[in-house]
Amino acid sequence: MIATDLLGIEDLERSDIEQILEAAAHMQEIGDRPVKKVPTLRGRTIVNLFFEPSTRTRTSFEIAGKRLSADVVNFSTSSSSLSKAESILDTARTLDAMQPDAVVVRHRVAGVPKRIADVLDAPVINAGDGAHEHPTQALLDLLTVWQEKGRIDGLTVTIIGDIVHSRVARSNIYGFLKMGAEVRVAGPPTMLPVGVQALGVKAFTSMREALDGADVVMALRIQLERLSGSLFPSIREYAETFGISRRTLRYAKDDAIVMHPGPVNRGVELSHDLADHRPSVILDQVRNGVALRMAVLYLLAGRERVAGRTE
Ligand code: CP
Repeated sequence: MIATDLLGIEDLERSDIEQILEAAAHMQEIGDRPVKKVPTLRGRTIVNLFFEPSTRTRTSFEIAGKRLSADVVNFSTSSSSLSKAESILDTARTLDAMQPDAVVVRHRVAGVPKRIADVLDAPVINAGDGAHEHPTQALLDLLTVWQEKGRIDGLTVTIIGDIVHSRVARSNIYGFLKMGAEVRVAGPPTMLPVGVQALGVKAFTSMREALDGADVVMALRIQLERLSGSLFPSIREYAETFGISRRTLRYAKDDAIVMHPGPVNRGVELSHDLADHRPSVILDQVRNGVALRMAVLYLLAGRERVAGRTE
């Protein structure tokens, strides 16, 4: 049974992940109905508290809440009292006093969702914090691989790119390892954390070796807005050495799938052709994100509240 908050995959047991994936698989069918709404969270309130830009995560949490009939409030940081220097914790306490049933938090600083969870009664869901974790992204990636391959146990998953700065990489490393996959990471040496093998992964700077026999190839976004540009000589050189194209994909298994959390820098991490066509499953990841977030909201916001924290 997953705990009160969802702050990271590192905190979850394999059985927790399985519970969330199975709940998400049930939620998928609701998205295929002409009327995409069930009364599961009627009367519940969900607050989206995004201090950092987002398209996929924020929108899919909003759609997920609405498909479950919850009232969803999108907190706007630019028009809030944050602009009058109110602190994040005071903002969170203020919102909590309005008795939401779940608060979804994204922030550029690692650890902010945990700090907020420590002072809130409502369950807190981490929607991405700095370079720490992005648990719902990893869960939707696990759901996508599980449904594409019929299993996760025994698969080889290669994650390519800026592993150092990627919360997606970190959450996926924890998730795929807990679910029994072999996890490899690849990129320029400057983008591989020192001692990353201690997490249980294999690290490569050669794409041929990293992709050899891979079932899943996951490219990460080069975070141009966070980097000083000093981690590799040029975008062009990165694209030529670590970009995924049909040519480099030949090293992987014939039926390998290609994943990307988005947004994609086309022609950098992925060739234009692969960004749009199989074996890329990028839009399946996005679609699964709604069902996965419905499952998380159902499991956390759907509980009865007893003396403050949910039970
Ligand atoms: N994958 C992801 O987190 O995308 P957004 O930044 O658009 O939410």
